[in-house]
Amino acid sequence: MIFLKSKRELEYMREASRIVASTHALLRKMIEPGITTKELNDAAEKHIRENQAEPSFLGYHGYPASICTSIDEEVVHGIPGNRTLKNGEIISIDIGAMYGGYHGDSAWTWPVGEVSEELLHLLLVTREALNRGIAQAVPGHRLTDISYAIQSYVEDNGLAVVRDYVGHGIGRNMHEDPQIPNFGPSGHGPILKEGMVLAIEPMVNLGTYDVYTASDEWTVKTKDGRPSAHFEHTVLVGPEGPEILTALEF
Ligand code: MF3
Ligand code: CO
Repeated sequence: MIFLKSKRELEYMREASRIVASTHALLRKMIEPGITTKELNDAAEKHIRENQAEPSFLGYHGYPASICTSIDEEVVHGIPGNRTLKNGEIISIDIGAMYGGYHGDSAWTWPVGEVSEELLHLLLVTREALNRGIAQAVPGHRLTDISYAIQSYVEDNGLAVVRDYVGHGIGRNMHEDPQIPNFGPSGHGPILKEGMVLAIEPMVNLGTYDVYTASDEWTVKTKDGRPSAHFEHTVLVGPEGPEILTALEF
């Protein structure tokens, strides 16, 4: 069942999402060769708590950290630790915060220092694919109009969309109906309605789309070892179209 959020609920969701965005802004400034992913995690957790919110991921199905940090061939759900960032890597940072009982969820992938043209292409295409998907979050459109917009843009640009993980509705729970695949034909699934809130999150690989879960039972990696990027926004289906609740100001 897909919940439509009331005006009161949306106030909490806006605030949770704003906190997620400001956490991304904070971490973005910290990303440089030599910093550990644990330092990023701890700064994020402190910032979220200082804003009267809680990290959504901590303890979720036993997840042991407050954010996910996934480097290069790691796709999603990388656990922060003592690993230091190196020049030329890319790092996906996924953050969730709960405020007043409601969640916001967003991911960005950043270059560390100077990265190759190929990696920059991966980042730009994944980010634009997310934007194309978001543009379909309009009342009256069908859910998989989002999926098709993402897949077609990614594949037209020579990259591959991960199949095993999908976007999701979000609200009182971090994961609500509907599931939002990043691939498939348009024109299927539920009709989008004003008041739905969707976490749209393409994961895009430079090589093939196949992934597996590493022995830590969390980190998802590409099978071919080639890099992957992940961008995610929490988006309200507004009366006239999408409103990105986790938008980051540059
Ligand atoms: N943004 C991720 C998602 O949408 C976060 C889940 S990570 C977990 O599924 F650690 F919380 F599981
Ligand atoms: Co998500």
